[in-house]
Amino acid sequence: MAKLINPEILLEINHLYKRFENMSAPALNDVSLKLHKQEVLVVLGPSGCGKSTLLRCMNGLEHIQSGEIKLNGGIITKEGTDWREIRQNVGMVFQNYELFPHMTVLENVMLGPIRAQKRAKKEAKEAAEILLERVGLLEKKSAYPRQLSGGQKQRVAIVRALIMRPELMLFDEVTAALDPEMVREVLDVMLGLAKSGMTMAIVTHEISFARSVADRIIFMDAGEIVEENEPHQFFTQPSTERARKFLNIFEFD
Ligand SMILES: Nc1ncnc2c1ncn2[C@@H]1O[C@H](COP(=O)(O)OP(=O)(O)O)[C@@H](O)[C@H]1O
Ligand SMILES: [Mg+2]
Repeated sequence: MAKLINPEILLEINHLYKRFENMSAPALNDVSLKLHKQEVLVVLGPSGCGKSTLLRCMNGLEHIQSGEIKLNGGIITKEGTDWREIRQNVGMVFQNYELFPHMTVLENVMLGPIRAQKRAKKEAKEAAEILLERVGLLEKKSAYPRQLSGGQKQRVAIVRALIMRPELMLFDEVTAALDPEMVREVLDVMLGLAKSGMTMAIVTHEISFARSVADRIIFMDAGEIVEENEPHQFFTQPSTERARKFLNIFEFD
């Protein structure tokens, strides 16, 4: 079942340290990891352990105190990095992704490629329609965000990131705010992306989804990576007591 892992490293994090002002403990403490091309990494851990901060560091939404992040071998955590450019290559979807309310689905999706990438309107429209079709939302292209369900909005948010042709996609609890019946449709889009070979880092509390999508699991606690493991091993025989306790709160089928 395990897919062959591409030996090429897309993202490398070395000894990342991040402390928010006014916080006594660091949000990230000596975090190091490698993400290979086409690999799906799932980050698990209790609330407040630093999962969101880690993802946000990967596309420059947080300032770090020390350590480094490399993308395709180049250090991006340094002066002069064009984060706008990096963010086109590293797409991110959040729990509450705000679409522009006064724009249709199609307009929301076409904005990035036209404005930031100076792509031709016709090409952007074609690309948008192909991606909307892929997530089952082509018939909603002229709808406004208020006319969509939460699950549909999240699928549009994913398309908005994908149309920039990112090499890496970050997902931070994208289903956490959804009604249960809409969770599946969003997870299925993510599974499809993983199958298509997209490199992904995913924070989720959907444990059975994590188990099915992940090539590798990172378990964090209090700003540190406590365990890094292959999914089957992690879910059946975690090697740390803290991971065991964490998994105990979930029910398995
Ligand atoms: N903007 C912020 N200012 C101050 N502290 C923050 C900020 N964002 C997160 N933190 C703190 O950093 C730690 C890690 O938070 P976070 O990365 O959001 O955790 P998680 O996503 O795992 O729940 C927590 O202690 C949180 O309170
Ligand atoms: Mg979080």
